[in-house]
Amino acid sequence: MNSTQITKNNPITISEEVFGTTTDGVSVKSFTLKNEKGMEASIITYGGIITTLKVPNKKGVSEDVVLGYKLLASYEKATPYFGALIGRYGNRIANGKFSIDGKEYALKTNDGSNHLHGGVKGFDKVVWTAEVLKDKGALKLSYLSKDMEEGYPGNLNTEVTYTLTNDNTLEVAYQATTDKKTIVNLTQHSYFNLSGDFTKPILDHIVKINADRFVPVNRALIPTGELKEVANTPFDFREPKTIGQDINADNEQLKRGLGYDHCWVLNDQNEGIRFTSSAYEPNSGRLLEVFSDEPGIQLYTGNFLGGTLPNKQGGIYTNRTGFCLETQHYPNSPNQKDFPSTILKPGDTYSTTTSFKFSVK
Ligand code: BGC
Repeated sequence: MNSTQITKNNPITISEEVFGTTTDGVSVKSFTLKNEKGMEASIITYGGIITTLKVPNKKGVSEDVVLGYKLLASYEKATPYFGALIGRYGNRIANGKFSIDGKEYALKTNDGSNHLHGGVKGFDKVVWTAEVLKDKGALKLSYLSKDMEEGYPGNLNTEVTYTLTNDNTLEVAYQATTDKKTIVNLTQHSYFNLSGDFTKPILDHIVKINADRFVPVNRALIPTGELKEVANTPFDFREPKTIGQDINADNEQLKRGLGYDHCWVLNDQNEGIRFTSSAYEPNSGRLLEVFSDEPGIQLYTGNFLGGTLPNKQGGIYTNRTGFCLETQHYPNSPNQKDFPSTILKPGDTYSTTTSFKFSVK
């Protein structure tokens, strides 16, 4: 392993090692960003996956808080998008179809008849090119998605920069440009368990979401088009409450997702990067706050997680041992003219930033 001490003023160190080789014979590297406060993030070039995220608890003990695997082969075999970058379109597009300027496009479908998280080989399954930005304590990943890859128009040049800071924040900054009008909706799919124990359900995590409305879905988890008030529903996280409090309520939307698997319509959409949501785990004292300029956030409570996937702490993952907070535009936006647009034009730059800030209380 070769460890590099960055500039005098920048306390972040970045080390690099080989993580594995894909079944196609491509070498995959792992980069570990460390600060002076006990936080460290390991990111691999396959899928831009955060494989490990060590964060101190209230006693100062750093433990891993993201689900994942030890081996590249496990990621290649089957993954519920553990820790991965998602593109070109995070979440679902009904029937994989959408139109731009009257021309219909058909994407690969991989979730029944729908398109989910970029398709059969999305950004979570490609090998990215890495560049260490020494002065910034950052890792820049780049990927060129070719015209019509998975059915999407345009050559899309994508850059995702992971930056670790000394206040225990991991920032994810996304940029993309295209040479043909297209759609883009990138996100990060880490599954958090702030207890550090991946056998424990996440139901006791206390969550807050700054949203007055959410996006109801049909049985295939495609938005109905309505944006519904959270007031007097189990979807009201405006005041902090445990994930478990209402998850089993007699509610048709919860039955459809087998729990929370919905996008919230975040408040203050014109304010740029602002607080979106938080999760607090009382035993460890760990608090995660998510900041973003995106209009929506998907809370997914790991409802389909359990059964077969090898837990990196030993054994097999079970349902609801991790939750995702995926900042994004609403699902199926290309087919809902009243949802914020996900169109990217040649000459414009897609640019969005999400920060995961950790502290203890
Ligand atoms: C989706 C779930 C899906 C999961 C994949 C989440 O982002 O909302 O419906 O099952 O990703 O593991």
